[in-house]
Amino acid sequence: MSISIAIDGPAGAGKSTISRKVSAALGYIYVDTGALYRSIALTLNQQKIAPEETPKIESALHNTDIRLEFIDGEQHVFLNDRDVSGEIRTAEVSMLASKYSARPEVRAYLLSLQRKIAAEHNVIMDGRDIGTVVLPNATLKIFLTADAEDRAQRRYEEMLQRGQSADYETVLADIKKRDYDDSHRAIAPLKPAEDAILVNTTGNTLEQSVKQLSDVILQNLNKGE
Ligand code: DC
Repeated sequence: MSISIAIDGPAGAGKSTISRKVSAALGYIYVDTGALYRSIALTLNQQKIAPEETPKIESALHNTDIRLEFIDGEQHVFLNDRDVSGEIRTAEVSMLASKYSARPEVRAYLLSLQRKIAAEHNVIMDGRDIGTVVLPNATLKIFLTADAEDRAQRRYEEMLQRGQSADYETVLADIKKRDYDDSHRAIAPLKPAEDAILVNTTGNTLEQSVKQLSDVILQNLNKGE
């Protein structure tokens, strides 16, 4: 049976950067489920379908093919055969993804895809509801968080590094809004699974956070053997 490590937590907690490094060290596939929600939000928005237009969303999803490929260990998302991995990394798509991801039809559409990947590979899968909904029987569940100010600072620096223009206060306000919306939606809200291990990386450098998470994972995987 494949091993699955569920990592949930709010936006900007460093889930993707840390999980990518830890999964490379363990030889697991790293699945960033936020990229799936971002890609769906991108296509629905491009088709001018609003989050409340359920029948239109259902029919658009029916005609949407979304696929993950792992190229040199890096996840790429293909939306109807077009690689949108770069296009989905904007502040606008972040906010759209948070909105569309509250829709039950969007969540149902992505659920089986996520479960299928986890059944076929050893994975570290990150998201908001992996330990609570997608993989309730995951080998190990982690809830990774940090203070909003710390997360905003990281996001802000990442955006500058990518050459995007950014303003710290706007990034912080966006993070707080997404925290609120993601944890107050009716379906699969962001919350730690009852059996999740809480890891708080506030004040840590990236290297310290990677070490902290790797240690927690290795200690707990060994315990289960
Ligand atoms: O992790 P991220 O910032 O790329 O996620 C973008 C949005 O997608 C996030 O605000 C909420 C949603 N999301 C979700 O609802 N469930 C997941 N498993 C992953 C992301």
